[in-house]
Amino acid sequence: MRNENPVIKTILSRRSIRQFSKETVSEEVVNQILESGLWAPSGKNNQPWKFAIIRNPSLKEALASLTHSRSIIQGAPVCIAIFLDHSRVYDRTKDVQAIGACIQNMLLTIHSLGLGGIWLGEILKNKERVAEQLGAGKDLELMAVLALGHSAQRKGDGERDLLDKKVFLRK
Ligand SMILES: Cc1cc2nc3c(=O)[nH]c(=O)nc-3n(C[C@H](O)[C@H](O)[C@H](O)COP(=O)(O)O)c2cc1C
Repeated sequence: MRNENPVIKTILSRRSIRQFSKETVSEEVVNQILESGLWAPSGKNNQPWKFAIIRNPSLKEALASLTHSRSIIQGAPVCIAIFLDHSRVYDRTKDVQAIGACIQNMLLTIHSLGLGGIWLGEILKNKERVAEQLGAGKDLELMAVLALGHSAQRKGDGERDLLDKKVFLRK
């Protein structure tokens, strides 16, 4: 599907990136990415997200040891851990949906800035240990880790089911 609309183009051309060059990502760019997360919609505008930014090699190594996606975290110049802040929640389903919107905003911003990123979920099997490593308060529950940087891989073509398989009613 080709489209000249810049937002649609960004959405359609984004792919997960799992290999990064050693080039760093500035604090200013990381803040731009985080800022786009802040502007996600949330139920009652409760903004239930909290972020931890990880660049320190030994801390990255500690997180890497908690997931099968080890080499992705090791190779990324920056990781962002996204937490659900239980002191802000009002409805778990809606709050988790808001976190997803926040993460997708960040992924699209990463892509539109010419960087690459990946949403890591497998690490959630060790979410308590990740929270402990990052010194997250008791109210914070890990939702995902984003690894990002300058891409060092060919972008995948991507694969999606046809729309007709997903729409079950048009009436
Ligand atoms: C909730 C969630 C969890 C994911 N967890 C992982 C993960 O742990 N490791 C990984 O390599 N990719 C992970 N991914 C990335 C997916 O594999 C990827 O988005 C999917 O295959 C579609 O490919 P694309 O993003 O290139 O379009 C995750 C994506 C989502 C949304």
